[in-house]
Amino acid sequence: MASLLRLPGLIDPHVHLREPGATHKEDFDSGTAAALAGGFTTVLAMPNTNPPIADGPTLDLALRLARAKARCDVGVFLGATAANAAEAARLAGQACGLKLYCDLTYGPLRLDDLAALQAHAAAWPAGRPLAAHAEGRSLAAVLLLATLYRRPVHICHVSRADEIHLIRAAKERGVPVTCEVTPHHLFLTQDDIPRLGAGRAEVRPPLATAADREALWRNLEVIDCFATDHAPHTAAEKDGPKPPPGFPGLETALGLFLTAVAEGRLSVEAIVERMHAGPGRVFGLADQNETCIEVDPEARWEVRAMDLNSRCGWTPFEGKQLRGRVQRVTLRGRLAFADGEVLAPPGSGRVLAAETHNQVLEEV
Ligand code: NCD
Ligand code: ZN
Ligand code: ZN
Ligand code: ZN
Repeated sequence: MASLLRLPGLIDPHVHLREPGATHKEDFDSGTAAALAGGFTTVLAMPNTNPPIADGPTLDLALRLARAKARCDVGVFLGATAANAAEAARLAGQACGLKLYCDLTYGPLRLDDLAALQAHAAAWPAGRPLAAHAEGRSLAAVLLLATLYRRPVHICHVSRADEIHLIRAAKERGVPVTCEVTPHHLFLTQDDIPRLGAGRAEVRPPLATAADREALWRNLEVIDCFATDHAPHTAAEKDGPKPPPGFPGLETALGLFLTAVAEGRLSVEAIVERMHAGPGRVFGLADQNETCIEVDPEARWEVRAMDLNSRCGWTPFEGKQLRGRVQRVTLRGRLAFADGEVLAPPGSGRVLAAETHNQVLEEV
C-alpha cells in the first residue's frame, strides 16, 4: 500500500439525515455511518424533515435523536418559515444555522414571500450562519438582503454559470457571501440523465449543462466549500411515479475529488480548504481535538451501492472507478472507521451547539 495521506476530519455543511420523519431513507445512525465512511467527522443536517425543524419542540426532538444516535459530530439547522422569524432567532444558540428555502424543492419548507425573507434577515443574529437554497433570481434577491442588512449569507449548492458569476461579482464588491458546490454538479451534467434514468437523475438544482459545469471548475477560487447535499431517497422512490429530487453523496465525494487530483485537475490542498477549513470558517466550527482521517491516494475502487452505509440503496455514481479512498478515521483519539468498517457506536458523536462554535467571522 502506498503511504497514507493524513488529512483533517472533513466537514460536510449540507446533508439530509431525514430525522424526524423519514427513517426509511436515512437516520442519524445510518447517515453518520455514511459520513465516517466518507471521511467526514462533522456534518450539518438540514431541517426539511417531517415535521420540519422550524420550532422549539421539533428542534429539541432532532437534537435528542442526534445525541442518542450520531456516530460523528452533527449540527442541526433550523428552517425558516413565513411565521417563525422571532422564534428562530430565539433558538439560534441551539442550531448550527438558519436555512432559507427560496425555491421549490423536496420537503415542506418554502419561503417565497419577500417580507418573510426580510424578517429573517433582520431578526437572525448577524454572527450566526444563514444559508439559502436560492437559485437564479432568488440568488439575486438573497444577495441584495446580504448587502442591505450587511449580514453574511451562505449560498447552497450553486450549480450554474450565471450563479457563480453573480457570486464572484458580489464578492468582488465586498458583499458578505460564501458558497458551496456539490460533487454531482462538478462531475455530472444533464447529458448523464438518459444513462441515470429520469427519476434517478431528479435533483435540485437540476443537473446543468457542460458549460455550467466548466464555469464551476473555472471559478474554483469563488467556491468556499464542497458540500455533498447528501439527499437520500430510496431506489424504489426514485424509480416510482413521483421521484423525489436528491442524490446520496457522503460516501463518494472524497473519492471523486481524489480522482480529480490523480487526473491533475485539483490539488489535495484545494480539497482540504473546501472540505475542512472553508466549512469550518463559514459555520464557525472549532477544530476537533485528536481528529484526522488517513487516505490512500492510490487505492482504486469501484462505487457499488451495496457497499454503502446509507440506507437509500443506490448512488448516481454506480460502477464508477475511483482512485483514492479513506482507510481510517480517528475522532477525538478514538478509531471511528478502519478498513471499511464503521467502529464508532451510535451516540458517540457530539451535537454542536452555538456554545461550542466560534463566532462566524465578520468578514467572510
Ligand atoms: C433535497 C432533499 O431531498 O432534501 N433534494 C435535492 O434535490 N437537493 C432538498 C434540497 O437540498 O434542496
Ligand atoms: Zn436545496
Ligand atoms: Zn439539500
Ligand atoms: Zn482545521
